[in-house]
Amino acid sequence: LWLAVGIRHRQPGEPAVENGFIPYLGCALQFGANPLQFLRSRQKKYGHIFSCKIAGQYIHFLCDPFSYHSVIRQGRHLDWRKFHFATSVKAFGHDSFDPRHGHTTENLHQTFLKTLQGEALPSLIETMMGHLQDVMLRSDTLSPSKDHWEVDGIFAFCYKVMFESGYLTLFGKEFGEDKCQARQAAQKALVLNALENFKEFDKIFPALVAGLPIHVFKSAYSARENLAKTMHAENLSKRKNVSDLISMRMILNDSLSTFNDLSKARTHVALLWASQANTLPATFWSLFYMIRSPDAMKAAREEVQKILKDSGLTVDPSDPTLKLTRDQLDNMPVLDSIIKEAMRLSSASMNVRVAKEDFLLHLDNQEAYHIRKDDVIALYPPMLHYDPEIYEDPCEYKFDRFLDEMGQEKTTFYRSGRKLRYFYMPFGSGVTKCPGRFFAVYEIKQFLSLVLSYFDMELLDPAIKVPLLDQSRAGLGILQPTYDVDFRYKLKSNH
Ligand code: HEM
Repeated sequence: LWLAVGIRHRQPGEPAVENGFIPYLGCALQFGANPLQFLRSRQKKYGHIFSCKIAGQYIHFLCDPFSYHSVIRQGRHLDWRKFHFATSVKAFGHDSFDPRHGHTTENLHQTFLKTLQGEALPSLIETMMGHLQDVMLRSDTLSPSKDHWEVDGIFAFCYKVMFESGYLTLFGKEFGEDKCQARQAAQKALVLNALENFKEFDKIFPALVAGLPIHVFKSAYSARENLAKTMHAENLSKRKNVSDLISMRMILNDSLSTFNDLSKARTHVALLWASQANTLPATFWSLFYMIRSPDAMKAAREEVQKILKDSGLTVDPSDPTLKLTRDQLDNMPVLDSIIKEAMRLSSASMNVRVAKEDFLLHLDNQEAYHIRKDDVIALYPPMLHYDPEIYEDPCEYKFDRFLDEMGQEKTTFYRSGRKLRYFYMPFGSGVTKCPGRFFAVYEIKQFLSLVLSYFDMELLDPAIKVPLLDQSRAGLGILQPTYDVDFRYKLKSNH
């Protein structure tokens, strides 16, 4: 039986192997219950690198941050596309993006860099700022008042505001800036529909990545297909102010691929997911920790007020047209640190590469290990983020952890007296680093600047415990809270 399920024996020069007790699953259950604890205990036993069988796949976990560079740099032996493209196909059901499979010649990586970074950013920022204020103050999504407090869950609040704003920023508006009430209501219904479908689909995302077929989950399947329907070319082409990312992808789908219409639509669903699934919980953790820490709130408020004052902007909820440029957003070290610290504590994105051939992996301490073709090498950043030698009291939220003595961004962190090159990795690493990371941080900064400017906010229970992280998503990005936390907000009264 053991032979039939393919148990591996360690060969000389290979990392130590743990096959686990359960055929096929291997260590999956122990890993899934508490990945950080599992990896730490194995690191203690085996050292900087070891292999575990997880759901039929041998994964080499590299735990020495000084050796991360060797994986990120030894690119010629490692394939990142195999894993990423296969995961996207499993979850979203489009044809493969891997040019080796012959369905498209698009260089997706280039498309993302062109449309999400550099010159693409100012217009994304401007559009997002408009939508955020529309959703917060002009639509009936929130309807805040000066006279009484509104109570809501922080996650529910972030979800509503960020989903709608982010969705409209990338996919544009069905009826443009139409002032007709009926069409505005129809527009709103479309967004709410998308939000519900997104939630339903996102719930089962970890199961899809683990390899379960989507047909097992009937309502999630129809939710994904409903989203895809709204993203058929004939529907997308009616929309106004579609982002460069989506318009360029539509053109490249048409000109460089043999995808059919459904496959094309599903590629857009994949981008909707990539743009929202991590941003929503990251916004929650940033707002939650900020409200919970009076020092963080005070410092953030002062930073935002100063920026607005220096640019002569006044806050007026009846005319919500605040604008912040990219330079201004770059000049907000306190908000930056608040967001970074929130993501340090909540991110659990696994960085994965597949060995293209047998090769020797050299570690920082001069050791070298044989890696077999098709084995997976993984970095698990929470090992860094929760390392007490790098971050003192690692489980505590300290809003100014990423600020230096001058109040500017802190970029030097040490372990055992050595300066670290990698100490913060919620966005992945190397070639697969998230192409939307700059926009993601800008949109959370915009969101925080606006809620600080327009609202007074308080936790209903100031002594509330920090919710636990939902570990069912470990490996996939920013983890969600296991439950929502209530807060109350009202329009600031000094207007
Ligand atoms: C990929 C994190 C927001 C677009 C990724 C990856 C991570 C990540 C960890 C995979 C990297 C890897 O596999 O090594 C995050 C976090 C975000 C965020 C933490 C928010 C806090 C966004 C936003 C967008 C975006 C707002 C777009 C508007 C993408 C895309 C990919 C990606 C397109 C796939 C890249 C590829 O396969 O080449 N992101 N992301 N992300 N992200 Fe993000």
